[in-house]
Amino acid sequence: MLSKKIEDALNAQITKEANATFYYLAMASWAQSQALDGTASFLYGHSNEENMHMHKIFNYINETGGHALVPEIKNVRNDYKSIEEVFNLILESELAVTQSVNNIVSMCYEEKDYATLNFMQWFVAEQHEEEVLFRRILDKIKLIGTDFKGIYTLDKEIGMIQVGGASQGGGHGR
Ligand code: FEO
Repeated sequence: MLSKKIEDALNAQITKEANATFYYLAMASWAQSQALDGTASFLYGHSNEENMHMHKIFNYINETGGHALVPEIKNVRNDYKSIEEVFNLILESELAVTQSVNNIVSMCYEEKDYATLNFMQWFVAEQHEEEVLFRRILDKIKLIGTDFKGIYTLDKEIGMIQVGGASQGGGHGR
């Protein structure tokens, strides 16, 4: 049984995961339009992963006696300046998602909702993995550079990173 407060917080988290799904989809499409095929492939995969996160929460809310709600998606940005901008924005977005996950965990302790606390542990681990992954990509961007030769190598490197969440146990190909 979910308290109204936890149900609302989980529905708000659905909105965040849905926003991430479409945010990364728009970034993937931009990358593909720039012939950055490796980056596009990685970002399409990551968008799918965010969609899976959203579905996980849908399922949990409904099987725990609540009602998961489809959010409205607003203000998806379709154009980006550079690959560096894209990954800086992703890290910023993931740090905000981590904050939101942490807030739900705190709320679970306050409400003594140990089932949801247990459910959220997966997201805590996933957020840690994602932050490590995106910091590592930003390090690669600095290291390899984005000049004519660098961008080709960088795009290939990013395309080789496998997307996989905490549930698969395989991490992100690190
Ligand atoms: Fe599902 Fe990347 O947060």
